[in-house]
Amino acid sequence: MAAESGFVGAIDQGTTSTRFMVFDHAGAEVARHQLEHEQILPRAGWVEHNPVEIWERTSAVVQTALGKAGLTAGDLAAVGITNQRETTIVWDRRTGRPLHNAIVWQDTRTDSITAALDRDGRGDVVRHRAGLPPAPYFSGGKLKWLLDNVDGVRAAAERGDALFGTADTWLLWHLTGGPDGGVHVTDVTNASRTMLMDLETLDWDEELLGFFGVPREMLPEIRESSAVTPYGTTRATGPFAGEIPLSGILGDQQAATVGQVCFAPGEAKNTYGTGNFMLLNTGTEIVRSEAGLLTTPAYQLGDQPCVYALEGSIAVTGSAVQWLRDQMAIIRNAADVETLARQVDDNGDVYFVPAFSGLFAPHWRSDARGAIVGLSRFNTRSHIARATLEAICFQSRDVVEAMCVDSGVRLEVLKVDGGVTANDLCMQIQADVLGVPVSRPKVPETTALGAAYAAGLSVGFWKDTDELRQNWAEDERWEPTWDDARRDAAYRKWQKAVERTLDWVE
Ligand code: G3P
Repeated sequence: MAAESGFVGAIDQGTTSTRFMVFDHAGAEVARHQLEHEQILPRAGWVEHNPVEIWERTSAVVQTALGKAGLTAGDLAAVGITNQRETTIVWDRRTGRPLHNAIVWQDTRTDSITAALDRDGRGDVVRHRAGLPPAPYFSGGKLKWLLDNVDGVRAAAERGDALFGTADTWLLWHLTGGPDGGVHVTDVTNASRTMLMDLETLDWDEELLGFFGVPREMLPEIRESSAVTPYGTTRATGPFAGEIPLSGILGDQQAATVGQVCFAPGEAKNTYGTGNFMLLNTGTEIVRSEAGLLTTPAYQLGDQPCVYALEGSIAVTGSAVQWLRDQMAIIRNAADVETLARQVDDNGDVYFVPAFSGLFAPHWRSDARGAIVGLSRFNTRSHIARATLEAICFQSRDVVEAMCVDSGVRLEVLKVDGGVTANDLCMQIQADVLGVPVSRPKVPETTALGAAYAAGLSVGFWKDTDELRQNWAEDERWEPTWDDARRDAAYRKWQKAVERTLDWVE
């Protein structure tokens, strides 16, 4: 390890693209490159990625980012990985070839597998032990589908030739040598999204494995998010062209929690991407949700105890804006939604619930479908644009309300990050709808930064979380402007609109 190296790198393997970023000791960005990959949509509700394309794109972004900044492996003290969670990959350990495309977190093909768990009481075991409501969102059902439906997968798994992993595991295995000694590990945050890990023991659970018929041999070792000793080192023959400790892994939403330095119980962040994911740090206590949230590890740093979070996952937020652009063609670029929405002072009584793939937190209703309600002749596409931004914010309020029920914590400020936070109007509406200030940090790339922090803490590049806190600085803050009467009336209407979307799929 080059302890004197001045930077830390982070691979951020997301749903639509992969980026590699390099940060300095102050947490400032030094280099980045990003490439998109194909969204494979074989039929309605199915979403796949090609794992080979993801590995190739990862190699390319690493090489290009380092090249652009004139950096070499020796400049990096450590590398971390953060990733889209739940997306499920199975590959052959002898060849390194995937046995099927990755099944992406948004894919709903396993609805019947998870629904079956709730018919005979096993669903409550999953809820209690894994902290998750049985849903097609999580990896366990996807892995069962691959074992049951793809020729040769179960036989390969039983022979010990098939390996399972989320994107972190797939990339780490390749970076550390692939078929030639690749390290097969994941971290607690990613493992917790499978429905196969016990939240208390932080290990695979035999009964849960039995529910999904998953052979234990195909599963990675579960490690801490910031490694006590690095998981492995990059190979000189790989994209880094040198040996660097791989020492941090965090699911992307947990990485953003770390990047936003939400290290104290009661601190929360909300990331606005294709979906929204709000995580509230609950400390070392496992808070089991009564209100429709997930209980999930936030991070485990070195040999310290695991810190948990309550999570509100919302499937469709930024992707509703893409829908206005791609399917409805009422805007040309995503950013135009703000200009259009600004042409009106309010929503003209229009509410849009983008329940395109059912509703995630706090409702967990796969029978829901999207609706635009309250339309009158008076309304224009500006009202629809405004209602789309409001939908992002009302869905976040639903999650905040659930967090308050589960934890008793009333938010004092909401830390935000992600692409949609560039939309000033949306952030103002968020403050208005919540009645609390909204705060965006100077470094908006909190996901990659969090993975870099996890890797850097492991090798002593950063001393402790107090040092990381000093790197956080506010860029912009939005204060609420609505009075309580307006806020309450609007939220009541939103709740009515949500009810209209339920029971649609028969
Ligand atoms: O749980 C899904 C989440 O990890 C996906 O995040 O940013 O890749 O859309 P993102």
